[in-house]
Parts: sequence; structure tokens; C-alpha cells
Amino acid sequence: MKNNKSETVLRYFNSIAGKYDFLNSFLSFGLHHLWKRSSIKTAALKQGDRVLDLCGGTADLAILAAGAVGTSGRVTLYDFSPEMIYAGMFKISKTPFVQTVNFVCGDAEEIAASDDSFDTALIGFGLRNLSNMEKGLREVHRVIKPGGKLVCLEFSQPVFPLLRRLYDIYSFYVIPFAGKVFSGSSDAYNYLPLSIRKFPLPEKLSSIMQDAGFSNIIYKRLTNGIAVIHAATKL
Ligand SMILES: C[S@@+](CC[C@H](N)C(=O)[O-])C[C@H]1O[C@@H](n2cnc3c(N)ncnc32)[C@H](O)[C@@H]1O
Repeated sequence: MKNNKSETVLRYFNSIAGKYDFLNSFLSFGLHHLWKRSSIKTAALKQGDRVLDLCGGTADLAILAAGAVGTSGRVTLYDFSPEMIYAGMFKISKTPFVQTVNFVCGDAEEIAASDDSFDTALIGFGLRNLSNMEKGLREVHRVIKPGGKLVCLEFSQPVFPLLRRLYDIYSFYVIPFAGKVFSGSSDAYNYLPLSIRKFPLPEKLSSIMQDAGFSNIIYKRLTNGIAVIHAATKL
């Protein structure tokens, strides 16, 4: 591992993998499922597509994508945490998509794939965790085919000031407490709200994507901006 942030993030995800899905649903009141479905709708996947689910973790997006691309399509879930991948593999083994989804354990900042390999790349709550987001985005741009799409789902901050205040209280007090109780890791769930606060707001992220080579960048706020979907094209 190349630097402190990557090592720390890897340790967090390896340690919470077994409780990740439960805590995601519990802490987001199930909303993350709606946000993920909305991301897949934005991706407008077609039968036969080749899809990269970068930072794919426990495979929620990969499962939705596999349903959309059909048996002639392929979904590659790419993640650097073996424990998250095992949890994802276990979930896929309970679906009809075992042949459609393959798993690669590797670093999103150095994607082990040829140029122009995928029709679409999905990143669900992953970009924020990279130590060098710009490098990761350049890598995603490299491995997408010309005309291909990036769809990125990430946390952000509510637009309404009152909701932002409430969300701050929730994320800085409730989330670390529940994270510690249910996963045993207060560090991982202290890191979560801090990483969201440090992450660029939607306009800024659009310009970072543009600098990485993407065009036609649009974004959509979900649940008053708690989550945001960015879609971008490689021309
Ligand atoms: C918050 S989880 C998101 C998982 C899944 N995409 C979802 O939406 O539920 C972030 C995932 O990114 C992975 N990750 C973080 N940094 C990474 C990196 N540099 N390379 C590959 N995977 C990374 C973590 O291991 C973790 O599984």
C-alpha cells in the first residue's frame, strides 16, 4: 500500500465488511437502495454492456447492473478490500448473476484493465475514499470506451440550512455511536462524516471530472443533497 490514507481506509473496510450492509441500511433508513437504483437508471445500461463497478464493495450496484446488462453483459467489481469482496461474492452467490459478475481485488488508482474496456463505470460511495481522486478519475477515463459513461454516486451536504444542521448532528454524533455499537469500529464511522465534509461540493466535483478528461457532466441531488449522482461522458 502506497500511503497512509489508503492503508487506513483499507483497514476500516476490512474491519467493518461483515456489518457494512446492515449499517448502510440502518443509518440511511434504507435510502441508499433508492439512491443506487437511481444511479443505475441514470447509467441507462443496455443488454450486453461491459460495466466496471469501481470500489464495488458488497456488490449492491453490481447486482443491479448485472440485472440490466443480461446474460450477454459483464460486470467487473473492482475493490481493494478482500473482506468487502468476500461479502460481495457471498451476496452474488445468492443471485442468478454468478456468471455475469467477476471480481478483481486491486487499487482504483491503478486499474488493471486495458484502455477502452468498459461501456460504463459506476462508482458508489467510493471516490471520497481514494487518496488521489484525480488519479482515480483519470484511470476511469482511460478504461472507459469513447462514448462511454461514468456514473458516480457520492455523499454530499443538504441544501436547506436547517436540514444541514440536523444532518451534522446526526452524522457527527449518531453515526459514530451506532457504528461503534454495531460494527465495533468507532474509527471507521468517525471517518465517514469527516470524509463527507472534506469532499468537494457538486460544482467543484464536476470541474475535477472535467479536468480528468470527462465531458457533458451533469449532476442530480438526491434527498436534498445528502447524496449526489454525477454522470459524465468520455468523448
Ligand atoms: C463506502 S464503500 C462502497 C461500496 C459500494 N460501492 C456501495 O455503494 O455500497 C467504499 C468501497 O471502496 C473501496 N475502496 C476504497 N479505496 C479504494 C481504492 N483505492 N481502490 C479500490 N477500492 C477502494 C473500499 O474497500 C470499499 O469497499
